[in-house]
Amino acid sequence: MAIQLTEICPKPLFLDLMTVKKLACIVGARPNFMKIAPILHALAAHKNVQPVLIHTGQHYDKNLSDIFFEELKISRPDISLGIGSGSHAQQTAEVMVAVEKVLLDAAEQGHPFHRMVVVGDVNSTAAAAIAAIKLHIPVAHVEAGLRSFDRNMPEEINRILTDSICDMLLVSEPSGVENLAAEGHAQENIHLVGNVMIDTLMTQLERAKESTILDNMGLKKGQYGVVTLHRPANVDDEQVLGSLIDVLLEISVQTPLVFPIHPRTKSRLEAFELMSKLESAANVHCIGPAGYLDFLCLTSNAKVIVTDSGGLQEESTALGIPCLTMRPSTERPVTCSEGTSTLIGSDADKLRTLLSQVIQGEYKSGKCPDLWDGKAAERIAEIFAAE
Ligand code: UD1
Repeated sequence: MAIQLTEICPKPLFLDLMTVKKLACIVGARPNFMKIAPILHALAAHKNVQPVLIHTGQHYDKNLSDIFFEELKISRPDISLGIGSGSHAQQTAEVMVAVEKVLLDAAEQGHPFHRMVVVGDVNSTAAAAIAAIKLHIPVAHVEAGLRSFDRNMPEEINRILTDSICDMLLVSEPSGVENLAAEGHAQENIHLVGNVMIDTLMTQLERAKESTILDNMGLKKGQYGVVTLHRPANVDDEQVLGSLIDVLLEISVQTPLVFPIHPRTKSRLEAFELMSKLESAANVHCIGPAGYLDFLCLTSNAKVIVTDSGGLQEESTALGIPCLTMRPSTERPVTCSEGTSTLIGSDADKLRTLLSQVIQGEYKSGKCPDLWDGKAAERIAEIFAAE
């Protein structure tokens, strides 16, 4: 007697196997975690999409990685590749080899990935995208189209490479749409969805109020500054870093500063014998990389933010906090045209002038860009589900 298909494989299961789309979601470094978190949460509402979280291990310190999983309530990675630090070529190559193996193994076991999702612009982003596309797995890029037009930045190379091989370009601000169109991408591949990093910020703002970090440091709301620096242009040259530190020390006499120090910056400060200068300043609080909630508590209550981080330019704009951006260019121009950011390069004099403008209440105010409304991940999840 012929066996009916429904007897060995009931219809719902059969349908599930046919229609559930497996998404390889890649994270590697700190700024990736707050971008993937809302996407994973939004995908939970779509039963026809199954995300698989793959952590390359580009960042591995607890405070650069694990703490974000705990605080943002992301489940542990399904797959951890443990790549770690290395030169750009070494790190990129190791991520490519390891990701390729994951994708091939899944296909061999009969559970192939339908699509990959990469976020941001770190080495893991570009490396994973290259591995996938060569196996004919289509790739979606969240935060596509951003361009600083400065090819000295490794992130700019990662952005250009990644976008050039992706068929789904999920964009956070209008400049991204213009850049992608100018590069010849088809309009139907470009989706202006808004900013997933701001989704996370909006979700976590209430919880961040419970942080005790201000009290622990004796800081008063609206009366201190937050500093983060980690880009090679600011921290690798002894003179540049030295002159920035001098201005910060000068300002700290009237406005206390909190400086969560990235590992690469710490090693440079130590090598240039600047660390002891900072640590002995009465009003400069040097701490290690902060967790998400403590950091959001610090930034949302700050008088001013001094940074070279891309993400923090966006977060300060969403929070309405003045942001002096220590970069000559930005791939996020809306943070300057509409938001609270001003580009000042590595110029210590401009830093001094603008800091006093902020302190005297003479700095511009900004507005939150369109679609930075806490719903970008929902829009993205709907696009994946409808594919
Ligand atoms: C990377 C991203 C950058 C992002 C930043 C956020 C690239 C090219 N750069 O820069 O876009 O803004 O993350 O932090 O992908 N290290 C540790 N512990 C760690 C990770 C790194 O101590 O968990 C140290 C190592 O000495 C390492 C150095 O930091 O060599 C740099 O790390 P890496 O991941 O290469 O780049 P980031 O500067 O963190």
